[in-house]
Amino acid sequence: MGTFFRMRGICKSYFVGGEDAPVLKNVDLDVEPGEYLSVLGPSGSGKSTLMNIIGCLDVPTSGEYTLLDQEVEEMDEAGLAHVRSREIGFIFQNSQLLPRLSAQKNVELPLIYAGVPPKQRKKRAAEMLERVGLAERRGYLPTQLSGGQQQRVAIARALVGDPSILLADEPTGALDQKTGRQVMALFRELNDEGRTIIMITHDMNIAKYARRVVHIIDGELTEGGGTEDA
Ligand SMILES: Nc1ncnc2c1ncn2[C@@H]1O[C@H](COP(=O)(O)OP(=O)(O)O)[C@@H](O)[C@H]1O
Ligand SMILES: [Mg+2]
Repeated sequence: MGTFFRMRGICKSYFVGGEDAPVLKNVDLDVEPGEYLSVLGPSGSGKSTLMNIIGCLDVPTSGEYTLLDQEVEEMDEAGLAHVRSREIGFIFQNSQLLPRLSAQKNVELPLIYAGVPPKQRKKRAAEMLERVGLAERRGYLPTQLSGGQQQRVAIARALVGDPSILLADEPTGALDQKTGRQVMALFRELNDEGRTIIMITHDMNIAKYARRVVHIIDGELTEGGGTEDA
């Protein structure tokens, strides 16, 4: 593979109150397959804006972004939809599970959209739930699960389509410390298995679980060095 993930001079501004407010300023970032990267920065620094661009949910104002050898700017809507649904697994601060669906059904959902036949998708969702330690809770509704369990269902849902990259925006933000550590242990396992992970957080204690940390302050990104021995 040539370029897995490459950003050059990415800028994003929003037009607010009659003027351009810059949010991302000349962001350069390269991510290799199999990396576990954390983007660490305070609230309002532009983390979610960056994540949305990485995940092809939003477009930069200027700059170059290449994902999986493709120039994102040149992809059409079908290509973008494909990347979002097949190549990227999203995890957000609040698990965003559908409240009326069981854990099993929530995890099956991306496969339903992808047109995977029922038998196959049931099997894959069940396997994924087992993988995150929730085999016994498959039939539970989100409200019958703890916050950490809900987040694990969300992780299973993000991974069920076997995406190239896992993108997580404050994945432990709504969890207590112990549960947060369990989710981080799971991320480490997934990365050890070769999954590329980009995790966004404002919490240094969470960022240090990644193998590489970059800092974002006021829309500017700087390399923070590895954390392997931290
Ligand atoms: N849709 C938008 N319109 C205008 N300003 C926005 C929009 N989204 C984010 N911003 C601004 O961009 C800045 C960064 O936001 P965000 O990326 O959500 O930061 P973080 O995730 O690091 O807390 C904030 O100042 C926010 O107010
Ligand atoms: Mg945010």
